[in-house]
Amino acid sequence: MTYSRRHFLLHSSLGLAMLSSIKMNAMAKAMGEVGLKDYFRDDFKIGTAIGGKLMQELPADYEQLITREFNAITMENDMKWERVHPRPGVWDWALADKFVDFGVRKDMYIVGHVLVWHSQTPKWVFEDTAGKPVSREALLKSMQQHIATVVGRYKDRIAAWDVVNESVDEGNGWRKSPWLNIIGEELMEKAFLFTNEIDPKAHLLYNDYNEHNPDKRAFIVDFVNKFKKRGIPIHGIGMQGHVGLNYPDIKEYEKSIEAYAAAGMRVHITELEVDVLPEAWDHIGAEISTNFAYSKKLDPYTKGLPQKIEDQLTRRYEEFFKLFLKHRDKIERITFWGTGDAESWKKWLPGKRPHQLPVIV
Ligand code: GLA
Repeated sequence: MTYSRRHFLLHSSLGLAMLSSIKMNAMAKAMGEVGLKDYFRDDFKIGTAIGGKLMQELPADYEQLITREFNAITMENDMKWERVHPRPGVWDWALADKFVDFGVRKDMYIVGHVLVWHSQTPKWVFEDTAGKPVSREALLKSMQQHIATVVGRYKDRIAAWDVVNESVDEGNGWRKSPWLNIIGEELMEKAFLFTNEIDPKAHLLYNDYNEHNPDKRAFIVDFVNKFKKRGIPIHGIGMQGHVGLNYPDIKEYEKSIEAYAAAGMRVHITELEVDVLPEAWDHIGAEISTNFAYSKKLDPYTKGLPQKIEDQLTRRYEEFFKLFLKHRDKIERITFWGTGDAESWKKWLPGKRPHQLPVIV
């Protein structure tokens, strides 16, 4: 596997076509020397997610690619609770440290992902050895200790934290997770307060998928307003951006950017990727516990992407980037969820493919 500009552009379809149609300027001619971060340097930061295997030993061409194209980085998995804090009192910093050192060396905007989430968090956090739920007090203590340790370790180096991930259900208020069941609604504000206490300069985000959904939008705006009134430190909304060729309705996406900004939040597009496969999700987004039986119908492009779909993909990125540029005053950063298809978590979807791509993360 080699990492070239072509590798990146294939994934994102942010080729010359899009760039020159959106930003027709002298820089487009210089494609090859100028990275995406430079094209958009007056608009927003451009980021990518880095997987653990890549971080272990950064291939030189990959390092070159990401330092040329991006000025923001997120660790894909290796700062999540199950990775850095797999057992009580056991911490594994190897990859997270490498990632932060790399970001500091390259002068990147470093994003910490993620402190409190229902997924990729070990069972012991929520259950005692007999399998009984821990007490509210114990879980709050655990949350505080985890946040203090991780945030404290990278204080002043991580610019923004995804403090809480995916805590709102589709139209049904707070997600019914062990966090909510044990702590109650206060879990959100506690997480923000604990983080701010350790690193008062860090920019604190609530991150979620499907935030274009009107019910979810209303719920988020409501809690943001309540938080602000009560002085709970929240500074931005992360809109993940696991989107497809035909979903979501970009008008709803725009309404959410506007609504979050109107509530005083900076908007971060935190995990952008456009899926070209037919829709298989009951509920669309990044719910990774969802699984599908493999079917040919859901996986039609085993011999490569037809030009027609490639063009649709380019147009879809173009549509989103036009929207982002229109709202550049509200948007802090656009982060792609990885630099290439071969690294993508979605190469395992839908269902289990008989023909896996090479595993490199
Ligand atoms: C969510 C998380 C990410 C990642 C994706 C799926 O969006 O925030 O860290 O796990 O799901 O890969």
